[in-house]
Amino acid sequence: MDSPFKADILKGKVALLTGGGSGIGFEIAKQFGNHGASIAIMGRRQQVLDSAVSVLQSLGIQAVGFVGDVRKMDDANRTVESTFQHFGRLDILVNGAAGNFLVSSEDLSPNGFKTVMDIDTVGTFTMCHEALKYLKKDGLGKKSSDGGGIILNISATLHYTASWYQIHVSAAKAAVDAITRNLSLEWGTDYDIRVNGIAPGPIADATGVSKLAPDEIDFQARDLVMPLFKFGEKWDIAMAAIYLASDAGKYVNGTTLVVDGGIWLSRPRYLPKDAVKQLSRVVEKRSREVPTGLPTSKL
Ligand code: HXC
Repeated sequence: MDSPFKADILKGKVALLTGGGSGIGFEIAKQFGNHGASIAIMGRRQQVLDSAVSVLQSLGIQAVGFVGDVRKMDDANRTVESTFQHFGRLDILVNGAAGNFLVSSEDLSPNGFKTVMDIDTVGTFTMCHEALKYLKKDGLGKKSSDGGGIILNISATLHYTASWYQIHVSAAKAAVDAITRNLSLEWGTDYDIRVNGIAPGPIADATGVSKLAPDEIDFQARDLVMPLFKFGEKWDIAMAAIYLASDAGKYVNGTTLVVDGGIWLSRPRYLPKDAVKQLSRVVEKRSREVPTGLPTSKL
């Protein structure tokens, strides 16, 4: 699908994306590049990075890959420094690296819990921390006419209610949302950096869906499908990212944009729509007949 944004909306910007070699992160990288940004991607697997970079370059995008694990302080530091060395500036940081697996709470070891917290939460903070000196207004590589940079944290909606077999990710993403809000307050005020998040719903062909809703689970048969259920596309998340990273979103700070088609709000329909119309009138009529003072429990 064509982008509704101008092709040069991110012209001259340099973006660093963790987890940018595949899935949603790669789509954001590609769309940022299509809209004029130069791209650095960070990931753990050299091969994945190499093929991602060559796809980006084949599209005419300036791109470079750095192998690293956001759990390692040295890797985080080296990647941010190398991005600056390579492109001479850093404008946008996207924290997309995440870890996940389905597991019930009693079967999750404390180290399994910690592993996901370390990748999603501590990794996000570490990258923000290392990138600050480049992202801030008048930071290294910035011209005086440049404003501050942008941070985008990829989150989820799991923790808005509660989610089966996802205690580790729910806790990690709740903390990521807290990081988003707190940094937006402190760094928005002090350094003109806008910090926002995106909470994707189930996205077709993304790792989250293949891990959390593998083909082996028959959701239809178990009547677990919600009425609003529809897969999103990686494109949907990338367009939200462009909105937040560009001047289109210049007054948006400290929010996590839910891009899920409304799924997190949905509950299975418990009455057919026509039945509601009829029943509602009957209930209303009956309630008007109730003598004043009679407890409604007597209805
Ligand atoms: C129970 C598990 C487990 C599983 C790992 N562990 N997999 N426990 N069930 N399926 C436990 C291990 O037993 C170990 O604890 C600890 O976790 C660390 O495991 P390692 O394999 O040593 O970790 P590592 O190799 O670093 O791998 C990290 C990982 C892995 C998170 C476990 O899945 C990974 O690297 N994933 C990266 C890609 C990914 O999953 N992305 C998901 C993005 S989707 P013990 O106690 O045994 O030492 C996404 C969507 C979010 O984030 C929300 C969508 C709605």
